[in-house]
Amino acid sequence: MPPGSTIGILGGGQLGRMSALAAAALGYRCHVFAPEDDSPGMQVAAARTVAGYTDAEALAAFAAAVDVVTFEFENVPAATLDALAPLVPCRPGVAALRIGQDRVAEKRFFAQAGIPAGPWRAVGSLAELEAAVVELGLPAVLKTTRMGYDGRGQAVLRRPEDAAEAFARLAPHPLILEAFIPFAKEVSAIAARGADGSVVTFDAVENRHAHHILDLSIAPALVPAHVAAAARAHVAALAGALELVGVLALEMFLLPDGRLLANEMAPRPHNSGHWTMDACRHGQFELHIRAVAGLPLPEPGRHADSIMKNLVGPAAHAQWPALAARGDVALHLYGKSELREGRKLGHATRLLPLGTLSGTTDPDLLAPV
Ligand SMILES: Nc1ncnc2c1ncn2[C@@H]1O[C@H](COP(=O)(O)OP(=O)(O)OP(=O)(O)O)[C@@H](O)[C@H]1O
Ligand SMILES: [Mg+2]
Repeated sequence: MPPGSTIGILGGGQLGRMSALAAAALGYRCHVFAPEDDSPGMQVAAARTVAGYTDAEALAAFAAAVDVVTFEFENVPAATLDALAPLVPCRPGVAALRIGQDRVAEKRFFAQAGIPAGPWRAVGSLAELEAAVVELGLPAVLKTTRMGYDGRGQAVLRRPEDAAEAFARLAPHPLILEAFIPFAKEVSAIAARGADGSVVTFDAVENRHAHHILDLSIAPALVPAHVAAAARAHVAALAGALELVGVLALEMFLLPDGRLLANEMAPRPHNSGHWTMDACRHGQFELHIRAVAGLPLPEPGRHADSIMKNLVGPAAHAQWPALAARGDVALHLYGKSELREGRKLGHATRLLPLGTLSGTTDPDLLAPV
């Protein structure tokens, strides 16, 4: 796609905002389509449509106004991409979206692509849940199959008596029961795949959560080299199996014995890849836009070690003046109008010389911003 072309982005959140900024650097215009006015993405877009995802008239006008469509929000209805696909190229396509928004479809896809995951059962009734609890054992994690994020729509079952209460709370949504994985660490990796089938991957990272929300990503992950390589190989294999055009993130559990089990995937830029904007020559948002626009995909070229800290809620956001004053920190704020508790409002990436984190247990080095 030549510079000056327009990329349509479904979703108005920070992922779309940072994608639009990367697109602008390559000379593209972005048109953001989202139900909320003044969303983070719209603030930096050349054009915007405020409309519902099922507004057929607005979708047709959007398709006519853009050269390609991507999404930054994985819960865009699949029917939206079905309506757009005959009118304009959609990258990634609806197949990746459908799989990425349903935990059961994801788990089936992992199996099909040969990616190891923990034991799970689809749960449609309390009787099925009780049977699944017997089969998988306790503890186990009951989750809604759709629309979960930041740990919402989940319950940890510790005793058989927990099943009925958790089922009542999460039903009538379709549910999945997963065996509780006693992980040593959580890691993730991101791949970018072009329309020509070329794939590049970023270094695997280690993720730490606070209150069920991603708190830190340490890049590169402090894991043995073969584990990091396996994480990258898994996400690259998935991107190929999906025939994805764009970027894909894979969240994994690292077991104490060094095995990796897939948890979930997201066919879009991912919070655990925000460090790439500042610690790589070509970050995840740039590679996503390059894939969508049909440009070549260079190796990311990581040039620093880094620790990304999410700024969640008003108290974290209030630290911005001190963060803005630091020479070793890259600050990104999302322009959200409502500074609500539990909301991701920005992130700050502390950059360290390449190799600094390798093998370290020094708490000062590992301290976030
Ligand atoms: N089967 C499991 N065993 C152990 N811990 C789990 C399991 N499933 C989820 N968790 C914990 O809960 C966190 C959130 O789960 P998951 O990633 O499935 O949900 P999510 O709501 O999509 O979260 P996010 O939006 O942060 O990615 C995981 O990162 C992990 O810490
Ligand atoms: Mg997750």
